[in-house]
Amino acid sequence: MKMVKKHILIVPGDGIGQEVTAVGKKVLEKIAAKFGHEFTYDEALIGHEAIEATGDPLPAETLAKMKASDAVLFGAVGHPKYDNDPSAKVRPEQGLLRMRKELGLYANLRPIKLFDELLGASSIKPEILKGADILFFRELTGDIYFGEKGRKNNGDTAYDVAEYSRYEVERIGRKAFDAAMTRKKHLVSVDKANVLESSRLWREVIQKLALEYPEVTVEYQFVDATAMLLIKDPKRFDVVVTANLFGDILTDEASQIAGSMGMLASASIGDGTGVYEPIHGSAHDITGKGLANPLASILSAALLLDISFGLKKESETIINAVDALLKKGFRTRDIADASTPANMILGTEAIGEEILKLI
Ligand code: IPM
Ligand code: MN
Repeated sequence: MKMVKKHILIVPGDGIGQEVTAVGKKVLEKIAAKFGHEFTYDEALIGHEAIEATGDPLPAETLAKMKASDAVLFGAVGHPKYDNDPSAKVRPEQGLLRMRKELGLYANLRPIKLFDELLGASSIKPEILKGADILFFRELTGDIYFGEKGRKNNGDTAYDVAEYSRYEVERIGRKAFDAAMTRKKHLVSVDKANVLESSRLWREVIQKLALEYPEVTVEYQFVDATAMLLIKDPKRFDVVVTANLFGDILTDEASQIAGSMGMLASASIGDGTGVYEPIHGSAHDITGKGLANPLASILSAALLLDISFGLKKESETIINAVDALLKKGFRTRDIADASTPANMILGTEAIGEEILKLI
């Protein structure tokens, strides 16, 4: 068995990011001990906590540490204080967006997989859900998120430009096609080509790329139709590739296929260090109460081991532990239902302890 030495940066960020990332780190420590790997750790600030400490949501020191590490386990950013203050010039989210750009994290992988035990946790009927398994590729460094934005007409008109280059579409498209080749060879490319020029370029590039992957069946959908089909028939999807904003919205919707946002992990990859994080946010309404579901952070650690370190067996060990935990009947509040006995509903740390035992 190969033994690896790796340096991992822990960036918990804001709100429940702190609580769930602490558990994710413990899981990494446990895996290292079990399999004889040597992981070293450091921590860095981002988001609201970084603004409070330094005035900058992505301090230079944080970025330097990210670039120098083998992988980043990330929590969440955000603070309610800014949400209702449209005039705020510095915002926690700017730290996240700059990180994505600076690290060249153009591909955001969001696997939507339903653990059988959670069939009842979703608001979608079990017979519609059973067997759903989707891998989203959300483009992460372009689109309306990063295009020119501003105000005109004395501030009475605002604009955000959605822009894509051929190169940007091709590199995310290629990642999605490659993944489809290892799965059911079915790819849905989502755009709004009936309206948007950037979407017409998107479609043109994917069509051209499809010629290189004759074994992959490609379906082109408009984003409004995808939003409907995800709920109507989630099993018809295998790999989905889409632009930054569409991917942001569709994956929150798709999280309901997995029962809860608290279950979904993501990997952001590109040119250098990969960043692994839950798709949920900072959830200030439950921060500090020990209620947050740490499974998304734990599953993010599993993605980190697999994608950045190539440690498949270690990654599977974590996923199997999550499966076993759910089979034993343990739940956090967000994935419990009326039939869950009160003593089986655990808090953040207690769920973490059970996972460590199962590993
Ligand atoms: C996400 C988040 C971010 C995004 C926010 C916090 C800027 O919603 O990672 O999905 O929109 O990309
Ligand atoms: Mn989002």
